[in-house]
Amino acid sequence: MRVGLAYNVKPADTPDHLPEDAFEEYDSEATVGHIENALSRLGHDVRRLPAGRGFVDAVRGAAPDIVFNIAEGEGGRCREAHVPAVLEMLGVPYVGSDPLTLCATLDKPVAKRLVEHCGFSTPPFRTFRSAEAFDSLPFPFPVIVKPAFEGSSKGVRISSRATTFGEARDMVRFVTETYRQEALVEAFVPGAEVTVGVLGNDPQRVVGMMEIVPKTVPPSEFVYSLEVKRDWENQVSYRIPPDLPAATLAEIERCALGIYRALGCLDFSRIDFRLDASGTPQFIECNPLPGLSPGYGDLPIMAERTGLPYLSLVSEILSHALARLGMASA
Ligand SMILES: Nc1ncnc2c1ncn2[C@@H]1O[C@H](COP(=O)(O)OP(=O)(O)O)[C@@H](O)[C@H]1O
Ligand SMILES: [Mg+2]
Repeated sequence: MRVGLAYNVKPADTPDHLPEDAFEEYDSEATVGHIENALSRLGHDVRRLPAGRGFVDAVRGAAPDIVFNIAEGEGGRCREAHVPAVLEMLGVPYVGSDPLTLCATLDKPVAKRLVEHCGFSTPPFRTFRSAEAFDSLPFPFPVIVKPAFEGSSKGVRISSRATTFGEARDMVRFVTETYRQEALVEAFVPGAEVTVGVLGNDPQRVVGMMEIVPKTVPPSEFVYSLEVKRDWENQVSYRIPPDLPAATLAEIERCALGIYRALGCLDFSRIDFRLDASGTPQFIECNPLPGLSPGYGDLPIMAERTGLPYLSLVSEILSHALARLGMASA
């Protein structure tokens, strides 16, 4: 079938007036190429559809049967919804979650409220528009301060973990002034960090769980920050499956599947947790557009290690969408 591939690639340079991680969420040309290749090897006629203003004309010109969407979009907290919303307007089916889920997960405070309402644990939080508005918190330090709607550790630094009021206020200033959005200040969860890959729709399944293990600091001080991600070989190791008790793994799995359903994820997603002092999984965030770079993205790494090579992963994601949409693969 004819499969469109919607994406945003990282521009070659970051203009001086933008933060160094301004384009952190976007994919590399190589990742787009890997997905394109995988879809071609699966027998599809692939058409590249760069996201942005030319997207509508490109889709209408290519007339795809379905669009494989990895586009992060450009703009505010609804940017990830642009491509699926346009596709719905044009009557073109697509792979992955719908506009509501993409907006509700990109905005972390919104996602946390929904998840908590559905009975899952997430750290207590407050949001602030400016450093001047920052005041006392109803939970103790340490806290983490991060942008309300970013991903790929954009706006998250080692210094985002704050142990005092002054440190937290400085990071609220950094986030609100640099990223022009509210700062999310949330209780810092000190235990193991685990990310969970989920695939499918009714039933969904956990494809893998991965513990991100810091090499240079104790977990209680660890932040999977921009600095750490850019030096990951020296800073972290990955454990698949996590080195945790079976009952804890079962509970993380239960939470991941429940949250995937609660947030309305479709076809594939990755959900991040940290364990609190009692070993309870605390929801950090959900990524319905997880990175799909082979050998580098968490989901492809987990899938590979649990017996699902890259080509099969791309094939399975597409198959879930086709089955859900009642379309035959040809
Ligand atoms: N409440 C928290 N407690 C402890 N660590 C956190 C918390 N929130 C975020 N982090 C750390 O910061 C990292 C990035 O935060 P996350 O919300 O996942 O943002 P991103 O969307 O950029 O991945 C996490 O992987 C984790 O290491
Ligand atoms: Mg994350």
